[in-house]
Amino acid sequence: MALLIKGGEIVTAETRYHSDILVENEVISTIGSDLTAPPNAEIVDAAGKQIFPGFIDPHVHIHLPFMATFAKDTHATASKAALIGGTTTFIEMCCPSRNDDALEGYHLWKQKAERNSACDYAFHMAVTRYDAKTESQLREIVRDGTASFKIFLAYKNFFGVDDEEMFRTLTLAAELGIITTAHCENAELVSQLQQLLIAERRTGPEWHEPSRPEAVEAEGTVRFATFLEQTHAAGYVVHLSCAPALRAAVEAKMRGVNLSIESVLPHFLLDKTYAERAGVEGMKHVMSPPLRDKRNLAALWSALEAGLIDTVGTDHCPFDVEQKLIGAQAFTQIPNGIPGIEERVNLMWTYGVNRGLIDIHRFVDALSTRPARIFGLAPRKGMIAVGSDADLVVFDPGYRGTISARTQHTNNNYNGFEGFAIEGRPSVVTVRGKVQVRDGAFVGQHDRGHMLRREPQYLKNEAVHAR
Ligand code: URP
Ligand code: ZN
Ligand code: ZN
Repeated sequence: MALLIKGGEIVTAETRYHSDILVENEVISTIGSDLTAPPNAEIVDAAGKQIFPGFIDPHVHIHLPFMATFAKDTHATASKAALIGGTTTFIEMCCPSRNDDALEGYHLWKQKAERNSACDYAFHMAVTRYDAKTESQLREIVRDGTASFKIFLAYKNFFGVDDEEMFRTLTLAAELGIITTAHCENAELVSQLQQLLIAERRTGPEWHEPSRPEAVEAEGTVRFATFLEQTHAAGYVVHLSCAPALRAAVEAKMRGVNLSIESVLPHFLLDKTYAERAGVEGMKHVMSPPLRDKRNLAALWSALEAGLIDTVGTDHCPFDVEQKLIGAQAFTQIPNGIPGIEERVNLMWTYGVNRGLIDIHRFVDALSTRPARIFGLAPRKGMIAVGSDADLVVFDPGYRGTISARTQHTNNNYNGFEGFAIEGRPSVVTVRGKVQVRDGAFVGQHDRGHMLRREPQYLKNEAVHAR
């Protein structure tokens, strides 16, 4: 069935203007003034509202075996929470552990998502071990359309890779023309500092940040950038949290390293005092890299506005209160992570655009267009253009509400942003032309989502890069 969105203001990464949008056969077929609805078309009145391209979360965890437990969401719960919050595509980290078979893991993640997601999705394939068998499996996974890797420099003996494995992963990625995303913290330093703190009986969640200080993240970022430079691979730092790591990443960009930077929602809005709260209140805010000293927040916002931070993701990773309490005796056992897939758009709008910290076009760019471009989803996703998928967010800037676990759709019994006011929310959200959300409620098709297959887009011109 056709869909006509009338009278809204289209806002993209580059421009804004009033126009109607006609959707036919799942894609945008016409953009123009005073369009006439075809027979039987559904009509959405967008007067007084903005129309954004569907938002893309480039970093989420849904199925995740981690720290002796599993993240709480299913693809059904997370995809609906995403859509209610205006996110129409997410890229999930497929994370088998070091002891698992990579290809079996990949099939497991795909199987969990298939027919269970209400929005479209793709995967980053985590490389948690590198040997000949894994290499041939990775080639097969890339041929299947998963055109990005993930490596962890943290989480020793579980997800973490050593320098040789990083080198070999990046060499393969450069050969295949795909991008590698990386969690940049020095695993050995974290492990040593954790042991020292625990030996001194410093066991509460307030010691999580001192066990992985800013310098530990800056070192991981420098090392990742150095390895990218030597392998001529394309890279993407995930969840960058602090000014020293930012300086390292920007310095690498300036000397020509092909490096993109992601920061995630919690690091723009929360500081380490949240994790310093007593007992489980602190544990709710344990994530890695940790929440930082407040002075870092302004640095992240201005780098985002300047486009030095390319994208804003969430690192959505829900563990409930009972799971967080696994670490009641030692902060090293607290499952790391915080949800955010449902809150990212509304909070970045309220505290970024409405407070004047970022421009509305940068907002669209960082939360939709740039993730689409970096990860090979554009022009299908991330833009409002004839021929693009009709993933659209009709946004009501007049809405007023408050974030709360009582009203959330994420499968968790707390919300890390409890009590934050929001000034605006999606009023209609479509996935390939089907209305999936109206005013905070899921009204659509539970299995609407497809896996998005992506082509390598970082293949080098051999003549230019020959050594
Ligand atoms: O604390 C976090 N970030 N949990 C999820 C795993 C990761 O490092 O991305
Ligand atoms: Zn991480
Ligand atoms: Zn993550």
